[in-house]
Amino acid sequence: MSVQDLITAYVEASTSPQPELLAELDRATNTRLVNGRMCSGHLQGRLLKMLVQMVRPRRVLELGTFSGYSALCIAEGLEEGATLDTVEIDDELEDFIRFWLDRSEHGHKVRLHIGDALCVVEMFENNWFDMAFIDADKRTYPQTYEAVLPKIVPGGYILADNTLWDGHVVETSPHAAQTQAILDFNALVAADKRVEQVMIPLRDGLTIIRKLPEAEQ
Ligand SMILES: C[S@@+](CC[C@H](N)C(=O)[O-])C[C@H]1O[C@@H](n2cnc3c(N)ncnc32)[C@H](O)[C@@H]1O
Repeated sequence: MSVQDLITAYVEASTSPQPELLAELDRATNTRLVNGRMCSGHLQGRLLKMLVQMVRPRRVLELGTFSGYSALCIAEGLEEGATLDTVEIDDELEDFIRFWLDRSEHGHKVRLHIGDALCVVEMFENNWFDMAFIDADKRTYPQTYEAVLPKIVPGGYILADNTLWDGHVVETSPHAAQTQAILDFNALVAADKRVEQVMIPLRDGLTIIRKLPEAEQ
């Protein structure tokens, strides 16, 4: 085992365990779906739940539902009456997602939209959401950010996943399209006077972005 593997195991052992239903969902995601590693998993899932508990949002948006794992972590942190709108483009995942939402005591807080993230986002009014989790198509992260930011209340938060993109962001060789889009996104956020942000080197990189209260739309 590498030192990094040992540290990961230690960090997970030092973090509250995930509920049994989510452990089951993680296993089902990895055995029944292609690219199961896209699932947030134990550590990031517990962080999502805790961030939601800290911010206490009434309305949350998630782009990129996949198996529903992160959606159920966010829902677990939501107070009764608060809601999560989550968007997934792959309609073949719908039955799988709904099965797990139905099994969870927090599933009733989640509204699933099957469609393209950029189209669904436009259905909502500006300043509608208190928080968003961006985790869909990496190639459209810059456009997705520009579409989501107006929908966030001043003082609200955007969490963006995969902002280290498996370390490719620090490569000097020519970049693949997805890496370039992540680089563009990170540069866009870093230069954006409407927000402040912290990039956390957790897992594949998670950036926490706060829309400044005085930000103009
Ligand atoms: C990394 S996975 C999401 C993982 C999930 N949020 C979690 O943490 O467990 C990305 C998902 O985004 C979906 N996706 C890709 N492009 C999309 C788009 N334009 N609109 C909505 N969903 C999209 C993919 O089908 C995939 O299921």
